[in-house]
Amino acid sequence: MTETSFVPDAGNQRAYREALGCFGTGVTVVTARDAEAPVAMTANSFASVSLDPPLVLWCPARKSARHDSFTRAERFAIHVMGEDQKTLAVHFARSGIDFDGIDWQADADGVPILAGCLARFDCRRVALHEAGDHSIVVAEVLRAAYRPGKGLMFKRGQYGGFSDFL
Ligand SMILES: Cc1cc2nc3c(=O)[nH]c(=O)nc-3n(C[C@H](O)[C@H](O)[C@H](O)COP(=O)(O)O)c2cc1C
Repeated sequence: MTETSFVPDAGNQRAYREALGCFGTGVTVVTARDAEAPVAMTANSFASVSLDPPLVLWCPARKSARHDSFTRAERFAIHVMGEDQKTLAVHFARSGIDFDGIDWQADADGVPILAGCLARFDCRRVALHEAGDHSIVVAEVLRAAYRPGKGLMFKRGQYGGFSDFL
């Protein structure tokens, strides 16, 4: 087995991304309302930070066309994708403003709520940090919801899921 080892720099970003891709994650879609229009982004940088108080974070890329929409938003929702929601994740990785054919409705704050997700965290931004080419958005969870079912996973550039160990 050959191991690739290197000091991350501008010349080996592809290998660095491949190393990071070995860490499997769940998949979320973050939604917000910006200038009255709904906006969404597929993101796997979601993490729980604190249980008491309930704080979470996610990281929008500064180069994303949607970055400012998300860092401006005081309220937003983080939707955890179920294993049957790959199409939704792929869609919002490509386009963050096309809600045609998407099953959603606005909550009392105007935040787009996507139907049928595995879990959802309704968030209020409490801190914003610059971190290299990404921003870190820290939020208080105002409400959480979840349903039974398996989650959509992402690892080494591929979507997948869990199978039951016997
Ligand atoms: C599984 C997956 C996870 C992603 N996670 C993030 C993320 O955490 N932060 C981010 O800025 N972009 C993330 N992206 C990329 C965005 O979904 C989107 O493709 C990118 O922002 C496109 O650039 P645009 O906003 O300029 O159109 C992820 C994409 C995929 C497929």
